[in-house]
Amino acid sequence: MVNLQNDACRLVILISGRGSNMQTIVDTIVRESLPAQVCAVISNRADAAGLDWAAGRGLTTHVVPHRVFDSRQEFDAALAEVIDQYQPHYVLLAGFMRVLTPGFVERYEGRLINIHPSLLPSFPGLHTHQQALVDGVQWHGCTVHFVTAKLDHGPIVAQGIVPVLASDEPDALSARLLNVEHRMYAQVVRWLAQGRVSLDENQIVRVEGVPTRAFLPDGSLLNPSGEE
Ligand code: GRF
Repeated sequence: MVNLQNDACRLVILISGRGSNMQTIVDTIVRESLPAQVCAVISNRADAAGLDWAAGRGLTTHVVPHRVFDSRQEFDAALAEVIDQYQPHYVLLAGFMRVLTPGFVERYEGRLINIHPSLLPSFPGLHTHQQALVDGVQWHGCTVHFVTAKLDHGPIVAQGIVPVLASDEPDALSARLLNVEHRMYAQVVRWLAQGRVSLDENQIVRVEGVPTRAFLPDGSLLNPSGEE
């Protein structure tokens, strides 16, 4: 468990594109005066739209362009060098579209969190909305999880669901799910900032005072017990 020792929870957010999850996280921290600080937003792509948004909010941004490195190891080493300047309690992947090396994952073990647009362990990898439609599942969803060396795998912090409609195309399903992603990542950041998230001896996530971390289609928590 990360020990915040009364410090504000220092966060570094990694993005590759539009950064709508990052925006929600930043807005939630500011609006609710959470004891958390986004120290930097880092992208592997200079053209990531989320970078402009972050800079416009006065946040520190960096680009570590993966293309200039000969190997994943070299890219990850350069990325870690930038991240480590900020000594973050947590590194949040928010639409960061690079596979990270085991060495990188190990360096941030227990501090590296991702959001994936499927109900893991179903549909790891890309095109998750398409995969869900092809398989005819009735419920699709998203997962916030600790990152392990295995792609799109690791202890689950929270999951959210949306129904799959007969008329759904991948884009419509994706857009509907994105609302739940935003509410869910924001809630996970609240829990992280409050120092309530830990892993038990079986690598199962516990959130102090929260019996379930399942999000409904409207983004609310199932059996919220007074929690949002
Ligand atoms: C989200 O659907 C996220 O789950 C996935 O990539 C998308 C990123 O969207 N990993 P955004 O950049 O946060 O808007």
